Amino acid sequence: MSAFVHLPVLSQEAPEALVSRPDGLYVDGTFGRGGHSRLILERLAPEGRLIAFDRDPEAVAAARRIEDPRFTIVHAPFSAMADELGRLGVARVDGVFLDIGVSSPQIDDPERGFSFRFDGPLDMRMDTTAGETAAEWLARASADEIAGVLADYGEERFARRIAAAVVERRRTAPLKTTGELARLVESAVPKNRRDAAQHPATRTFQAVRIEVNHELDELKGALEAAGGLLAPGGRLAVISFHSLEDRIVKRFFERTGHPERGLDPRLPLPAGFNAEPWFTGARRILPSKAEAESNPRARSSVLRVAERTARAWTGETGRA
Ligand SMILES: C[S@@+](CC[C@H](N)C(=O)[O-])C[C@H]1O[C@@H](n2cnc3c(N)ncnc32)[C@H](O)[C@@H]1O
Repeated sequence: MSAFVHLPVLSQEAPEALVSRPDGLYVDGTFGRGGHSRLILERLAPEGRLIAFDRDPEAVAAARRIEDPRFTIVHAPFSAMADELGRLGVARVDGVFLDIGVSSPQIDDPERGFSFRFDGPLDMRMDTTAGETAAEWLARASADEIAGVLADYGEERFARRIAAAVVERRRTAPLKTTGELARLVESAVPKNRRDAAQHPATRTFQAVRIEVNHELDELKGALEAAGGLLAPGGRLAVISFHSLEDRIVKRFFERTGHPERGLDPRLPLPAGFNAEPWFTGARRILPSKAEAESNPRARSSVLRVAERTARAWTGETGRA
């Protein structure tokens, strides 16, 4: 299986937390280069099945080289998993896994435009067959919109200045390359207020990428979809790499979680608790010290896992 090359984070913890039954049907919403898919398949019996998604045509092409009858790849955003699985005749799954963000092959390819470390076209789309590129978005968004995105998705202190510089610059010539955007941001951020540990364009690139790929809405859509697809006892496992995403997963499990901590299931639910709880046993798993030391990408990763309850909660969890 030479198509699998990506070094996956939490490679032991994530498949272990996800797979509760080897003959089950699982979804990997973020195939990438299949690091996690391979480890999930290793845990499955011959009757098990894995359906993977990726919106990136290059990831999908890599997945198509996998010859395993238990494996299927779908080129679609993971927020559309319910419809896509429906097309395959699948209405119930035993686990949904997401390892969100960009993959190393995406970041390291200058042509994809994700990184200010290389000069390339200002694209940043994960799906190169659809949607607006970063250059197109920066050419049409208002200064307020750009500043809002940089502040909200990049927590950029100089969002207004950078947005103003983009709007000023595009009056004369559109921004076309990653190098042009990186230099523009650098010139807009005051020298004496730069973060020594980070390139001044880091936050801008992150924010524009999140906007162009609608990453937070995608994540919210996938969590809701997974909640509706999982069989009782099935698990939802999500790895995220920054606090914006992790907060969405955490709040989702809080909102859909059932009132544990000693509440009597026969009594009416207190205000604020979900009337029809979906998930139980939410846990947060961090990489080991050894992994954080050996793999820089793992350092900021957080895995959150929870288990689907029966649809109408009776005070019992586990399989119906
Ligand atoms: C961090 S990588 C996954 C790496 C993978 N777990 C591995 O071990 O190789 C994230 C992948 O998810 C894909 N992706 C991100 N957001 C997506 C979305 N909304 N729908 C489908 N795929 C998405 C990206 O194209 C990328 O290939």
